[in-house]
Amino acid sequence: MKKVYVRTFGCQMNEYDSDKMVDVLRAYDGYEKTTKVEDADLILFNTCSVREKAQEKVFSDLGRVRHLKELNPDVRIGVGGCVASQEGKVIMSRAPYVDLVFGPQTIHRLPSLLAERQKKGKSQIDISFPEVEKFDNLPTPITTSQSAMVSIMEGCSKYCTFCVVPYTRGEEISRPFEDVLVEVATLATQGVKEITLLGQNVNAYYHEQDNEAIDFATLLDYVSEVPGVERIRFTTSHPKEFSAALIDSYRKLPKLVDHVHLPVQSGSDRVLEAMKRGYTRADYIKIIDDLKLARSTVSISSDFIVGFPGETASDFDDTMSLVDEVNFDGSFSFMYSPRPGTPAAALPSHVPLPIKKQRLSQLQDKLSENAFRFNQRMIGSEYDVLVEGVSKKDPSKLSGRTNSNKVINFEGQERLIGHTVKIEVTEALPNSLRGNVITRD
Ligand code: SAM
Ligand code: F3S
Repeated sequence: MKKVYVRTFGCQMNEYDSDKMVDVLRAYDGYEKTTKVEDADLILFNTCSVREKAQEKVFSDLGRVRHLKELNPDVRIGVGGCVASQEGKVIMSRAPYVDLVFGPQTIHRLPSLLAERQKKGKSQIDISFPEVEKFDNLPTPITTSQSAMVSIMEGCSKYCTFCVVPYTRGEEISRPFEDVLVEVATLATQGVKEITLLGQNVNAYYHEQDNEAIDFATLLDYVSEVPGVERIRFTTSHPKEFSAALIDSYRKLPKLVDHVHLPVQSGSDRVLEAMKRGYTRADYIKIIDDLKLARSTVSISSDFIVGFPGETASDFDDTMSLVDEVNFDGSFSFMYSPRPGTPAAALPSHVPLPIKKQRLSQLQDKLSENAFRFNQRMIGSEYDVLVEGVSKKDPSKLSGRTNSNKVINFEGQERLIGHTVKIEVTEALPNSLRGNVITRD
């Protein structure tokens, strides 16, 4: 049996794509996934170029597996994802031992790329954007997990001035409505209880079927009707398209979880405009207020960038005050990293690194304090927890997630994995909770 090793960098979209690579290769030639790179017949890197010097990281990682190909010339090495999409042929010229370069939209062509590589004895590259063809050519997902991701749209057409995604993943394109529902239903019949709908901007979802316009809120109505689905999550949504209908979904769909990840990036209107985000601080706060009116228990997390070109101390203060005002529960924050080919990279007044670092640590301290306070307030209350598996840090415990996406560890028997249990929170840690099982559904 052939073995494939996949190393994934970056976001959940990339994790989803890596799973799909394995599915495609299994259907093509019976490949099995391995976690030992030295056992692999095929080594794949699914790369990310959203931040840092991702390009250099790929080359150093490639250097680390080169000797495996020297030991066995039949080993194949492939580079996929956003760095592949951006760098294309440069990868081949800098690392001629790479056999395949493919983009986020050409995963389904891996079998034909491998076959061509074999036939022609030459490296193969395909980083095109063949629209939604990718989805039509992916095998039906098979899982034993209680949670699964379902991609509903690809790409991004927002062109925020700092972001490379529209150039590496292409423009927004929604997957046909029926295909999404069939995939959700297939997963539910396999025992999946929690569905995460995935896309760079899920709320830009739009599909016309039988003259009916289906937007994201309508899609949620239908997914919520699928028997077996208990929880619906989605990521990532964009404040610009967070419609009144979507806010209303929190009123009427109890299966929608008590958590929204809504990237804001900055609390300063001046910076938001320079980022071309398409909303103001007040617009963002209004969405949160409306969401809380629709569902008072909803918790909000976000993404932040500090040190965007031209960000002043007063702009940064606006971000800090927004954190207080919205009271975010857990968030991601990053130092601005210039991305080649994006408009912001060419802006004057880049913020010096020491200032970026200092702002990041100040912001992260505040965000962690907030998240810890949320965790502490949960002590003594009971929550429905979907049990995901054995705890990574302590194998004698189980681990699961509350409706609001908090990780909770507790003692219990392995037969609880995949079930929803009621747990009383007994202890709060900065990034997780501990508790005791009360009942099982
Ligand atoms: N679709 C999402 C949204 O609505 O904003 C964002 C997707 S992006 C891949 C994930 C996060 O990476 C962004 O929210 C942003 O905070 C961060 N990011 C993107 N480009 C960045 C850059 N050049 N420097 C630092 N962080 C960046
Ligand atoms: Fe990037 Fe902005 Fe789209 S952050 S993924 S261009 S919404």
